[in-house]
Amino acid sequence: MKFFLDSAMVDEIEYALDAWDIDGVTTNPRHVQVSGKPFLQVVKEIGALMEGTDKTVSVEVNPHIMDTDAMVAEAEKLAALCTNFVIKLQCVEPAFKAVRLLAERDIRCNVTLVFSATQALQAMRSGAYYVSPFIGWKESNSEEIQGFVEDVVAIRDNYGFDTEVLVAAVRNGRQIADAAVLGADIVTAGMIVYKDAFAHPYTNFGIDKFINFWDQTHYE
Ligand code: E4P
Repeated sequence: MKFFLDSAMVDEIEYALDAWDIDGVTTNPRHVQVSGKPFLQVVKEIGALMEGTDKTVSVEVNPHIMDTDAMVAEAEKLAALCTNFVIKLQCVEPAFKAVRLLAERDIRCNVTLVFSATQALQAMRSGAYYVSPFIGWKESNSEEIQGFVEDVVAIRDNYGFDTEVLVAAVRNGRQIADAAVLGADIVTAGMIVYKDAFAHPYTNFGIDKFINFWDQTHYE
């Protein structure tokens, strides 16, 4: 099970690489805006952190682009910047052909903003390297998410697609564990989600309790 950090903050990514050995990074226009840096500058900085590893950085094509040829041209430009880049394309009609053409040129694509199993299936048929079901957004819309991830994984397995299922917009540790149980390949979440998920109040409670006993005992 791979853990990706959903962020474009270089200091957060450095921390997550060092502390948790994360397997990759996903960025999106919101993360880039939050970083306060120009798009090309920040994605190149993130790419440089991954160089020489097999970790990937998902870099999103300008969301205004709604034409296959323009998607392909922009994806080729971005992919040439760093071998670790996987190009994020929104799950829209022109992207399916773009993903296919890019796969033929060995450029890996992450089909993003996926909200139905059928969208995921078409992305896989097109040759997507990653497919990103957005569970947090669906949950906020009162939609069921567990069966959604289960369906995407089952479809991938039924037909032996090479696509990795990247569960995105993950909001808590329970969702990370559920994604792992359901056989997803990757989760991507923000720094705070991981920090909270890796801790538990009973762990802290236990530490306080044991410190108390320790202090009432002698070491030798
Ligand atoms: C994934 O690739 C996306 O960047 C991300 O998970 C979007 O979700 P958000 O709502 O947490 O920004």
